[in-house]
Amino acid sequence: MAAVLVLDFGAQYNQLIARRIREAGVFCEVIPYDTTAAEIRAKAPRALVLSGGPASVLVPSAPLPDPAIFDLNLPTLGICYGMQVMARMLGGRVTTDDRGEYGKCSLTRVTDNPLLTGIDNPSTVWMSHGDRVEAVPAGFSVLARTEATAVAAMGDPATNRWAVQFHPEVSHTHRGREVLANFLFRLAGLSADWKAGDIIAQAVAAIGEAVPHGRALVALSGGVDSAVAAKLAEMALGDRLQAVLIDNGLLREGEVEGIQAAFPNLDLLVVDARAEFLAALTGIIDPEQKRKVIGREFVTAFDRVRERLGLASVLVQGTVYPDVIESGGRSAGTIKSHHNVGGLPPGMSMRVVEPLRWLFKDEVRRIGTELGMPAALVWRQPFPGPGLAVRIVGEVTAERLAMVRAADAIVREEVSRVDPDHRFWQAFAVLLTLNSVGVMGDRRTYAHPLVVRVVQSEDGMTADWARLPDSTLERISQRVVAEVAGINRVAYDITSKPPATIEWE
Ligand code: XMP
Repeated sequence: MAAVLVLDFGAQYNQLIARRIREAGVFCEVIPYDTTAAEIRAKAPRALVLSGGPASVLVPSAPLPDPAIFDLNLPTLGICYGMQVMARMLGGRVTTDDRGEYGKCSLTRVTDNPLLTGIDNPSTVWMSHGDRVEAVPAGFSVLARTEATAVAAMGDPATNRWAVQFHPEVSHTHRGREVLANFLFRLAGLSADWKAGDIIAQAVAAIGEAVPHGRALVALSGGVDSAVAAKLAEMALGDRLQAVLIDNGLLREGEVEGIQAAFPNLDLLVVDARAEFLAALTGIIDPEQKRKVIGREFVTAFDRVRERLGLASVLVQGTVYPDVIESGGRSAGTIKSHHNVGGLPPGMSMRVVEPLRWLFKDEVRRIGTELGMPAALVWRQPFPGPGLAVRIVGEVTAERLAMVRAADAIVREEVSRVDPDHRFWQAFAVLLTLNSVGVMGDRRTYAHPLVVRVVQSEDGMTADWARLPDSTLERISQRVVAEVAGINRVAYDITSKPPATIEWE
């Protein structure tokens, strides 16, 4: 059971709140903002957090929680929009102001208080709001201000309700973790006793509940997420689990064999769907279209397997949180349709269970390690569901797939030599549609350039390009041009995310 429930009002990075709370050692779950007080009581949380969100509490359609949540007498922390919700619903006053306050601000504590204890004064915080609290509700006092905002934090010790206008969850807020810790430990009286093992037990129980009888399928894709999801499903369902690997022809070199070796005891069926995927991708250039087609083919292939084996209608998937948010989950606009989320057509006839849906990749890796999975698998680079198809700009053909696959293997091999500690998030190759002129063995060539992309990232949501040693770049360039026919030039991608994304499509 989660000790803290975060009511989600739709801010893009709400899961960061949950992540920070889990990092502080307290188990935490994000639930829809309109969950009723009775449903919340049934979950028996010890504290509530009202998250940020893009709306204004001043408009009639503003998302508001069940007013009865304030009768549950739980320690409550409002963050940004959540603070304005508290002000409005508890009798304070919120106004709008064209100026707003965005980005870094200096927070000054105006009175000693337990929420901001131990925080520098002044302290750098990150703000993002148009509306502001003008008058605090009865019982509350103002705890801190910024230059533009008179009420930047407020609190009422009698009811144990607290709120901050800034975002303690983002790393730009220097002492944000301490603010959250003050709320959790000083004010809500929680203790830091949550471990990755608890999430394992919870996920195993949730899969068991979702599949009380019959068999379920788990799709392995080669990535750590699907591997950990499969492991959890295996623990929950034992021989009621059928693992399937759809060989869509878009996998990396050695992938199928690697997965077979990593799961010696799993009932693993490898389905050769290479021809179908390639045929479906013929003539398709648009990246979103590619993703949709691959999602559709994936489901078709799965449905066929299921019919053939007469399996249950449940699919266990290793979707992680950044997949959800970047596919336009509850709040964010769609950046890319992630194949295991947005690309699935609505008519899909399987129920999907996603035990890792609220976790970040590093949390999934911690779980994998806790489960005793091999390091080579746990530290496998993330690999997109649509595979090498989104690393081929333009049409996907058998020939271009072979090129990018061979180049990708060289890039990974060379980067792993200088990255034994897995500092880099991903290292891969992207094939372009252009041709450029070269000269090899005194002969003119007119062939493709390859882009090498190596990035560092904490969770895939933001990333920076890796500063590789010159010697590594040199070896990659020499080997790719010498060993992969059709490539005569190598470029290194030096763009961070944002403004670029990690994958090219
Ligand atoms: P982008 O390119 O959006 O990628 O910056 C962020 C991270 O997500 C991976 N990625 C995917 N993972 N299904 C997945 O499971 C997908 O469709 C997908 N597209 C991108 C990407 O490799 C990077 O690690």
